[in-house]
Amino acid sequence: MANKDLAIVVLAAGKGTRLKSNLAKVLHQAGGRTLVEQVLRACAPLGAKKTVVVIGHQAEQVAAVVEPTGASTVLQFPQHGTGHAMQVARRAIGGAKIAVVLPGDAPLIRTETLKALIAAHRAGNAAVTILSAVLSDPSGYGRVVRKSETLVGAIVEESQLAPEQREINEINSSIYCFTLDKLWPALAQVKPNNKHKEIYLTDAVAVLAAKGDTVLAQIAPDSREVLGCNTRVDLAEVDGIFREWKRNELMASGVSIQLPQTVVVDSDVTAGEDTSVEANVQLLGKTKIGARCIVRMGSVLKDAVLGDDVIVEQHCVVVNSRLDERVTIGPFARLRPESYLKADAHVGNFVELKKTTMGEGAKAGHLSYLGDAKIGSKANIGAGTITCNYDGFHKYPTIIGERVFVGSDSALVAPVKIGNGGYIAAGSTITENVPADALAIARGRQVNKPGWASKKRRELAAANNSTKKPAKRMGAAKSRKSARKSKRKSRR
Ligand code: UD1
Ligand code: CA
Repeated sequence: MANKDLAIVVLAAGKGTRLKSNLAKVLHQAGGRTLVEQVLRACAPLGAKKTVVVIGHQAEQVAAVVEPTGASTVLQFPQHGTGHAMQVARRAIGGAKIAVVLPGDAPLIRTETLKALIAAHRAGNAAVTILSAVLSDPSGYGRVVRKSETLVGAIVEESQLAPEQREINEINSSIYCFTLDKLWPALAQVKPNNKHKEIYLTDAVAVLAAKGDTVLAQIAPDSREVLGCNTRVDLAEVDGIFREWKRNELMASGVSIQLPQTVVVDSDVTAGEDTSVEANVQLLGKTKIGARCIVRMGSVLKDAVLGDDVIVEQHCVVVNSRLDERVTIGPFARLRPESYLKADAHVGNFVELKKTTMGEGAKAGHLSYLGDAKIGSKANIGAGTITCNYDGFHKYPTIIGERVFVGSDSALVAPVKIGNGGYIAAGSTITENVPADALAIARGRQVNKPGWASKKRRELAAANNSTKKPAKRMGAAKSRKSARKSKRKSRR
């Protein structure tokens, strides 16, 4: 959609006092992105000639989020209201003829709704077309006061409502399409006639209507799209709606989700057909999941890339890692950033990986820490194997060849290299490289002393008797009890 005469203006200078936060309102998140990013994403497909974001509170931080999207910013300081924000943006808007104006705190707005708003504005040849919504509870919002079925007379803020206007449940979303050469003179006439001494953009609407210009209001098809985030409760509600829409989108594309209300999915996540997601799973960031995968309950995947047929058992945490086809992990596996499991690899319970690659079909079944390691295909890492990758100053790599067998409870002191087909005896502490196909044993040799234990027991019993007084009745009862106890034990 080419809109060569269109500008977008996002009003994002406000502090968001009602959030009680150090963070500027538009930097709070809903649906996995900041509020202002969500708004800009909805606007991007409109193909506007220019996008301007009015910033003020925490201007630097807001600019850092906004500018990478290609939008430009203008500083409004101090903030004298939404009308004043538009006046500040005027120069940056340039030669556009119409402008879609949106608040930075209503992130659920959809592109289709904005397209319809612009179309209605053009078709009606209006000075302004307001996006309105009908809410069962309109409190907190400015109300749309109509002077006829099609024409609007004014927007009245909640604090200025006359008693009979309180019943109006058509609200101003704060999203408008303005014809700019009508807006500027109207805005110049607006006075800060309110307790905050602000210039309200909403008052320009009344000025236009009084002049006899066409003021239209288009009702949003889904009233949830215009919800503003003024309080933490609003934020939670809006976030919940984003999550619901995203889950519905995944389910529509062939993904099964168990107890959907418990599953959190960020906006950029994708998943293939017949993948199934159990309750209490979180799929975050840019996670991409292939087809026919299973992600079991309680697992959290952030920026993870999964091939087809991957199984993530219960309670795994995977961050910025890649799992190729048919990999299985967990339950209780932790994959820290830059881990890469090639096809058919397996990582079992209580295994932690950091910056580690496991070759095709390699396995680490139980209780391991594998950091800065390259593990060859079909290698088998025994239970309790630890790569000692850190000496307190630097991190060092561990290279494990193909088909290597590492016995349980081995410590591999990096930097160290184990050649293809090598074998590490259980309980070894490996400090030197192991050649291909060699067996390395690095632990104390075992000594068996025949009969040692029974001799020791006899000695202990004798020492005990010589210090004990003869048994009294109570002592006898006690010893009968303990005899019963030990009998029970031996039956187990
Ligand atoms: C505004 C509307 C109200 C509407 C509601 C919808 C006005 C006067 N009222 O009220 O009719 O129902 O939105 O959510 O416009 N901002 C600036 N500079 C300023 C003041 C505000 O950039 O000087 C920005 C804020 O950061 C925010 C947006 O404008 O993103 C709206 O401001 P806010 O204070 O949230 O207005 P509401 O009281 O919600
Ligand atoms: Ca608001």
